[in-house]
Amino acid sequence: MAQDQDASREQVSCEQVKVYRVWDRPTRLFHWINVSCVMALIFIGAIMLFKGELGISGLEAKVKLKELHVVVGYLFAVNLVVRLVWGCIGSNSARLSKMLPNFSAVLAYKAKLKQGASPQYLHHNPVGNLAVFAMMVLLVTIMFTGLIRAGTDIYYPPLGGLVSDYIAANGVDGASLKPYDETGVDNQKVAQIKPFKSLAGEVHVYSVYLLILIILVHIAGVIVAEIKHQPGLVSAMISGKKRLNRPPED
Ligand code: HEM
Repeated sequence: MAQDQDASREQVSCEQVKVYRVWDRPTRLFHWINVSCVMALIFIGAIMLFKGELGISGLEAKVKLKELHVVVGYLFAVNLVVRLVWGCIGSNSARLSKMLPNFSAVLAYKAKLKQGASPQYLHHNPVGNLAVFAMMVLLVTIMFTGLIRAGTDIYYPPLGGLVSDYIAANGVDGASLKPYDETGVDNQKVAQIKPFKSLAGEVHVYSVYLLILIILVHIAGVIVAEIKHQPGLVSAMISGKKRLNRPPED
């Protein structure tokens, strides 16, 4: 692709410091939309979890919170799907294959740091790559389980229509069912789908806890790497340019 930014490593300066193009525009856009959506979803999710303690009561408020969470969840999901597609067809630096863990590179990187070297990378360093891979797997898991919960809990798309049609009692139109209201519902069928609904809910929430942990480790790692070994990591995700004073390892 013309925009293949690794191929077009651009030397802007004649000094020892070279400026390389990295992270194409769609990748940077994905990153910051994803950060915003995840923060908003954690915030709304936390209100949902602690609504009792926050004095929020009543069915309407509970359902409204879930609807808001799901609507932001759709933006998050579309952004993630676009990123996954871009990871298959986009520029070299956006490729999903770049995210795959490389344990021998991790050991080599650690050994270099131990020797006091500060190896430079155009993309993530091998340790950062592990966190990125884990976050991607968790984001996809959270997306799927969230969509399952949206369908089974409040009958929202893409599965909500199927679910409400399935659990509607004989002669009842599935579209007339309301969340958390047993009117017109076949309770036996509700019991049938309950294990899947519960499993999706548990995987969703525990994946979120794990994601929060990895996000914190990721941020700490970026700060340490930025200060000690690889300056310019954060600005590169904003400007798409990285300034390196020696040739990158990747
Ligand atoms: C990184 C993204 C996400 C985060 C951090 C997140 C966070 C959370 C949290 C903390 C809860 C627990 C609230 C509770 O159990 O009361 C929750 C529940 C829920 N999430 Fe997400 N979520 C994300 C993505 C999504 C997506 C993409 C959807 C669907 C479009 C979704 C749909 C739901 C639904 C329907 C519930 C309610 C489940 C229940 O009441 O047990 N979430 N989410």
